[in-house]
Amino acid sequence: MAEFKGKYYISTPIYYPSSNLHVGHTYCTVMADAMARFKRATGYDVMFLTGTDEHGQKIQTIANEKGVTPQAYVDEIVGGIKELWKTMEISYDDFIRTTEDRHVKRVQNIFMKMYEKGDIYKGEYEGLYCTPCESFWTESQLVDGCCPDCGRKVVAAKEEAYFFKLSKYQDKLLKHFEDHPEFLQPEARKNEMISFINQGLDDLCISRSTFDWGIPVPIDEKHVIYVWLDALTNYITALGYSEDDELYQKYWPVNVHLVGKEIVRFHSIIWPAILMSIDEPLPKQVLGHGWLLLGGGKISKSKASKGPDVIDPVVLIERYGVDALKYFLLREYTFGQDGHFNNEVMLKRLNFDLANDLGNLVSRTVSMIEKYNDGVIPDATTHDEIDEDLKNIATGAADKVEAEMDKFAFNMALEEIWVVIRRANKYIDEKTPWILAKDEARKPELDTCLHNLAETLRIVSILINPFMHTTASKIRKQMGIALYDIVWEDAMEFEMLYQEKVKKGDAIFPRLDIEKELEELSQLASKGKEENIPLQLKDEIEYDDFDKLDLRVGKILSCEKHPKADKLLVFQVKMGTETRQIISGVANDFKAEDLVGKNVVVVANLKPRMLRGMESKGMILYAENGEKLALLTTEAEDGNSVN
Ligand code: MSP
Repeated sequence: MAEFKGKYYISTPIYYPSSNLHVGHTYCTVMADAMARFKRATGYDVMFLTGTDEHGQKIQTIANEKGVTPQAYVDEIVGGIKELWKTMEISYDDFIRTTEDRHVKRVQNIFMKMYEKGDIYKGEYEGLYCTPCESFWTESQLVDGCCPDCGRKVVAAKEEAYFFKLSKYQDKLLKHFEDHPEFLQPEARKNEMISFINQGLDDLCISRSTFDWGIPVPIDEKHVIYVWLDALTNYITALGYSEDDELYQKYWPVNVHLVGKEIVRFHSIIWPAILMSIDEPLPKQVLGHGWLLLGGGKISKSKASKGPDVIDPVVLIERYGVDALKYFLLREYTFGQDGHFNNEVMLKRLNFDLANDLGNLVSRTVSMIEKYNDGVIPDATTHDEIDEDLKNIATGAADKVEAEMDKFAFNMALEEIWVVIRRANKYIDEKTPWILAKDEARKPELDTCLHNLAETLRIVSILINPFMHTTASKIRKQMGIALYDIVWEDAMEFEMLYQEKVKKGDAIFPRLDIEKELEELSQLASKGKEENIPLQLKDEIEYDDFDKLDLRVGKILSCEKHPKADKLLVFQVKMGTETRQIISGVANDFKAEDLVGKNVVVVANLKPRMLRGMESKGMILYAENGEKLALLTTEAEDGNSVN
């Protein structure tokens, strides 16, 4: 076991469940997961937190548009997010949803603490509001008149609101930045934030009264808590803050909040000020990572349909596997900088690094041990400079990986591991085991070569375990080494294997035909595009127009042809206490007897009309379904209102 080094708490941002996540979102979570696994491996007691940020106007609007409650809407998307993390084998210790009771209650406690401290007051907010980002901006913060974060239009808005005295903490924040140079990284972000504070901090609006999908302000039920106070506090509510403090006492302050660069401001200014207000310690570090870009801009869901690059992580994982995607994200990009995402760069990396370098090393080593020593890893009895060099590089890698991980340089940590892998491939070429095998007198040298390759692969399996643990297990399985109990310190030792029996398996990373893959991915991307051609519709209506309809559930008691019109069917429909006659022009679409007994949706307040001498009171609803009409039926009992 590794020596116990203390606790390590790492968080990702909590994601908006406004739609499914794309590969840009997975980037941060994959980094946090690799770090959490690495810290566990190197002797830390880790708390890895992620979750979802479920309140706010945007979610409420989308849910309304879809005709479902915000809770039902987020439940479905969050289910998908959890499924994605399960598929990607993300090893989080807790997943917090801001709609959970534990969070709601604790956020209200935090609000009260700030209020009692005298840090919250009621005022009126006037500003320029970006609805998608749920942020108010000042004129000077806009970029080309649009939201500086997302580039979309802002609208003038004014409302009664509660405010947090952020300005009160300005000097204390600056001092914190000065006293703790490591608090915010990378350096460029830190300088931005310091100059932001120096421009003067306005008090922060922390409530809304124009929508109600949020946590009620405990002292004023007309207001809900504005999303950033609700969201940022997740990092302590998940630990039980203000109710059951055991985890809080153990893990807070967090070691690292890993966040995208556009939300660094919230994490390094607003969040610390909230913590100062409630007299709690500040995060040890906030790390801002760059964005994955597609076609020059940040990857966003709307870009998914523009092709030719596939950005849906589920599709990429189905084709190439979880470890391939994780490897690519961690190896390709430099922490803190933006990087371009495209399928070709990804496929090349997978082929060069995984199929060629690592995959070949495993398959060559196992094949040779099978061929030259009956599948048993031989002992090493000889020694030369080349052996020594391989050993030194292999056993020296763990410290180098650790040094890079301390800097969050995932790409360099992986590069250090690939130095070992490439050295081992070169070692095979230098040692030429196929020549050694021809001369019985050189069998000891051949044995040493095979043994050293096996030891190197054992070390590689330990080193890659935090980043790609399934691959680590696959390698160990082929090498006949125990799958469990992978101990980091064992990567610093060379002589640990003793006559294990190897067994060749499938290629751990099959070689990809890049041209063919690109073609298929581009088809997949454009397929999504075709499926999303807007429907040809009648003119748009206002919500108020729709709201005039009184929709009720009715049961069809009888249905007959109209005596004077071939196209009309005459229904008797029971709606609660009342039974009515309704006539529809659908005789060409349905057989009268098929409709009896169905529970249907009726526009109950439609003005009565005479149709060929018979009164029709209301309208049964049908929807266009291609060429045909579909009757809107329901499992609900008659008499219920449905809108
Ligand atoms: N809900 C807030 C965070 C609250 S944390 C207390 C939020 N959610 S988000 O879903 O919009 O974004 C979550 C994270 O995903 C952010 O850190 C953001 O930077 C990251 N990314 C979204 N698109 C991304 C890329 N294209 N590339 C890299 N990261 C990306 O903000």
